[in-house]
Formats: sequence, structure tokens, C-alpha cells
Amino acid sequence: MSDTFPFTRRALARQPLPEGEAKQVSPSPAGRGAGGEGGFRPALQRALQHIEGAFDLAFGQRLNPWRHLGALSFWCFWIVAVTGIYVYAAFDTSVAGAYASVERITHNAWPLGGLARSLHRYASDAFVAIVLLHLAREWIVGHARGFRWFSWLSGVPLLWLLYLSGIGGYWLVWDRVAQFSLIATAEWLDWLPLFAEPLVRNFIAGESMTDRFFSLLIFLHIGVPLLLLTGMWVHIQRISRPRTNPPRAIALGLLVALFALGIARPALSDAPADLAIVPTSLDLDWMYLGIHPLLYASSAGSLWALVGGATLLLALLPWLPPLSRPLAARVDLENCNGCGRCFADCPYAAVTLQPRTDGKALPRQAVVDADLCAGCGICAGACPSSTPFRSVEELATGIDMPQQPIDALRLALERAIASLKGKTRIVVFGCGSGADIASLAAADTATLALICSGMLPPSFVEYALRAGVDGVLITGCRDGDCDFRLGNRWTEERVAAEREPHLRQAVPLERVRIAWAGPTDRETLASELERFRALLAGLPVPASAGHVRPKRAEVAHG
Ligand code: HEM
Ligand code: SF4
Ligand code: SF4
Repeated sequence: MSDTFPFTRRALARQPLPEGEAKQVSPSPAGRGAGGEGGFRPALQRALQHIEGAFDLAFGQRLNPWRHLGALSFWCFWIVAVTGIYVYAAFDTSVAGAYASVERITHNAWPLGGLARSLHRYASDAFVAIVLLHLAREWIVGHARGFRWFSWLSGVPLLWLLYLSGIGGYWLVWDRVAQFSLIATAEWLDWLPLFAEPLVRNFIAGESMTDRFFSLLIFLHIGVPLLLLTGMWVHIQRISRPRTNPPRAIALGLLVALFALGIARPALSDAPADLAIVPTSLDLDWMYLGIHPLLYASSAGSLWALVGGATLLLALLPWLPPLSRPLAARVDLENCNGCGRCFADCPYAAVTLQPRTDGKALPRQAVVDADLCAGCGICAGACPSSTPFRSVEELATGIDMPQQPIDALRLALERAIASLKGKTRIVVFGCGSGADIASLAAADTATLALICSGMLPPSFVEYALRAGVDGVLITGCRDGDCDFRLGNRWTEERVAAEREPHLRQAVPLERVRIAWAGPTDRETLASELERFRALLAGLPVPASAGHVRPKRAEVAHG
């Protein structure tokens, strides 16, 4: 095999490495679990993988709602906003008229008002639940620290803004729940030395709330959600192509579920507010109003200590303890023609294209902002200079990872191929965040670990096949669960020739398989590898003779 294939001289000069060593080449980890944290988080990670695995069976990997919690939060916001505007159109903004107008809306004097009110309420509840799940999931998978600090920290104020937006809505109904909630909130706020006059005076028995104060509440219920939207926009500023729209099927599914809930259990008001009496038995929405019973079970001071402490802890989490930065991608202007593929593929907007500084007659060059770089290597996989077919002794590319240069990948691949034995020889490329591939290595199977599957230039697949390997299997995190957001999407599109750099038409796609598999899917991946081997064993030789090339490489999901 090595007689006819132009392996680099460096690879040929070296004896194949001892068994096992040649077949397992691992980069330093930058992804999921990086930082070597112990404690109970790894156990939670495994539990989450199993829960998500069960949802994969029901929804499929791509439509699994667990992988779209951020986008579903956006979706909830839009449902709440649209239904809110609709209900507001029939709302009487005076204290005297508010309750009656909400009653009219509820009983459909305003067409479909009752349904819109119910949707408004239940989508607000779903919003809180989904954001809390999003927060918990991001923490469990290890996204609270390191280069993601901005996404995490900018999420924390959103919790407060979301809570304020929702609780403010309850006040506008001006029923007994509103009365209870407003008084409890005023008593809580009065603990802080903020107001010259205690807020609770606005609700002294026998006096009615003023229209001026009520207008302030309305202003808050419109202004705070606008602030929330601004905060949501800030939250996604440091990632490129944020997924703010969930797949249509799950967006529709959530909407239908909220409709069904609204019809089965319409949102209703309590009795009208009456400051002369103290409400004793109320039906509370625990999602937003559950904080009030806590106030009365403890004290205003301890409740402030609890929520203030929790907020501070969440805000400091990215630095508890600090995580060392991953090594950032480096641009080599000698090999950069400014094509912009790295800029287009970087999931963290860390690459910009800027005017040339080296005097070459090219308009642009790539520049990496090390502060934004996740060290994922997706840019190296995108660069046209990363092709192993270049007849250079050292494969310097336009943008590269110091911790696992493309040249080292080519060398490792060549050595691994040279040491493969057996009837059906397979090279497995896998990412450091998905299923463990090292244990799949065998005499006829070489495994090469990448930082992310998106780091693999498709030309490496062709290189391996042309060197006589029978098949190439690419694996990485479950579909839609890429630790670096876009790696498995770009890999599929490059292999299907839908994105540059693409796998050349000449490559027999039946010899290429993509199998997405998470950290707990090792056994499934091993079975997929064996199925692939059996299929390859039945293929005619040479690979493409008399064979119809399939349109896409087969993609298996965990
Ligand atoms: C209104 C509330 C929120 C909304 C609408 C929201 C939405 C989103 C969206 C759309 C993304 C991008 C997903 C992607 O394309 O990969 C995202 C990412 C993220 N969110 Fe949120 N989020 C919210 C609250 C929070 C909170 C409270 C936290 C934690 C304190 C948080 C932590 C994160 C992190 C760490 C990421 C980055 C994930 C990555 O880099 O892969 N989010 N969020
Ligand atoms: S992909 Fe490579 S050649 Fe293109 S701009 Fe980026 S570094 Fe330069
Ligand atoms: S390694 Fe490359 S693709 Fe990944 S974040 Fe850094 S610049 Fe972007």
C-alpha cells in the first residue's frame, strides 16, 4: 500500500509505532468534561445522557427538545408577546376597570380572549420551566465555565427579568391573587433601604390603589419584557448562528400542548381585589408566586439572603474554580488566502476577515480573537490549505490548532494506516466529547481522536481511502448535541458536498459512514462499526467499480 501511495517521507522514514500506540492518537481535551472536574457532575452527565437517549427514541436525535431548550425559550417569549399584545388591546388600564375587563376577555367578549389569556399564562409558565432546564443542562454538560463565561453570565440577569415580567402580569388582573402578591412583594422590597415611604402604604386597608401606581405597574409589565428581549439578544451575541428558532415540529408540538392545556384548564381570575380584607385561601401559580409563601415562612432578610446568594453564586460559577483557556487557533498568513471559510464555520464568532497586513495581493486575511476562541479546531477543518494531498513535507495550513496541528493529524493517519492489518481495514475519526473511540482500536481498526468532528477536513477521508483503507467512519457527539455547537452539522454538510470544503465526487460514499454517538453510546457505536465492516466486506473491489455511488454517506444516530 505504501509503495504506491505518496505518504510523506516523514511517515515512511519511521517504523510503525507499537500496536495500540499507532492506532490511538488523542488531542488534549477541550470539550465536554474538560477541566477534570470530579464530584457529582459526571454522574449527572451520565444521567442526562440516558434521559436524552430515551427522548432520542421518541423524537429522534435532531428533534429532541432537550437539545433546543434555548430556542424553545425564545419560542415561549414570542407566544407570550403575541398573546399579550392581543389581550392588552381589550384591557382597561384603570384600577376600577381592570378586573372587569379581564373578566370580559376571559369570557370571550373579546374574540378568543379566553384562549389567548390561557395561552399567555401557560406559555409564561413553560418559559420559566424551559429556561430552568436550559440552565441546568448547560451546567451539567459543563458549559458554565471557560470561554463560555459570557453566555453563562449574561443568562443570569435573564432569570430576574423573566421573573419580574411574569409576576407583573399577575398584578394587572387586580384580583385577590394580585392583591396578595403585590403586598407580599412590597413587604419584601421594604426590607431594602430603597424607598423614602414604605411601598406597602399603597395598599393600606380601606384605601384604593391609585391609577398612577397602577399605570406604573402596566409600564413595568411592558418595559421589563422589552428589557428581557434585549438581554436575550445580548445573551447570544458571542456565538455565531445561534439557534433561536426550534425545529417546526417541536415548536408546533409545544403550541398544541399549550392550547390543549388552555382549553382543559382555562386561566381564570380570583375574586376582585379588596384591600379591606386579607385573602386567606388562594390558588397560586407556584412558578411565579411560590416565592411569597417563602417570605412568610421565613423573613424578608433571609429571603433576600437566599435569592441574593443564589444569584451571586450563579454569577460567579464560571470562575469557581477558573478553567484554563483552551489554546486558540493560529493563523499562518503564508497559507491563508482570505477565502473566509473559517469565518463562516467558526461557531463562536472568533474569526474575522480583515485587510491584509503582509503585502500579498489579496484583499483579506483571517484574524482570530483568542478571547472568543473555544479551541475546537472547526476552522482548521474548513481551511482549503488543510488538505493532506499537498506535497509538502510539513503540512502548514492557513489556520491551525497548536494542540493538534493538521500536520500531526496527517502524520498520525499515515502511521496508523501503515500499521493496519486484516481483511477489512477501517479508520475511525472521532471527537473528544462523544463516545470513547480509543477502545475500538484493533489490528484492523485505527482510531484518531479530534477535538471536534468538525475539525476533520473531508480530504482526509479521501486520503485514507486512496491509501487503501476499506472504510472511514466519522463519529462525534449525538446529532444536534455537538459540544462546539456546529461540528456535526458542518461534517454532514461537507461529506454530502453541501458545504465547502466538500468531499470530492470521486470518493465512494458507501465507504464512508457517519455515526453520531454520545459518551454513553460506546456499545452502540461498536455495533455500528461492525455493521459497517460487514457491509464493506461485501463491496466489490475496486471500491467504485460497477457500483452506484449513493447520494449521501449513511448517517447513523447513536
Ligand atoms: C430567557 C432566557 C434564555 C434564553 C431565551 C436563552 C437562549 C439561548 C440560546 C438561543 C442559546 C444558543 C443555543 C445555540 O445555538 O447553541 C443559548 C446558549 C446558552 N445559554 Fe441561554 N438562554 C436563556 C437563559 C440562560 C440562562 C439563565 C443561562 C445560565 C445562567 C444560560 C446559559 C447559556 C449558555 C452557557 C449557553 C451557551 C451554550 C454553548 O456555548 O454551547 N442561558 N441560550
Ligand atoms: S479558511 Fe484558511 S485560507 Fe480561508 S480565510 Fe481561513 S485561514 Fe485563510
Ligand atoms: S478553534 Fe477555530 S472554529 Fe473553533 S472557536 Fe477557535 S477560531 Fe473558531
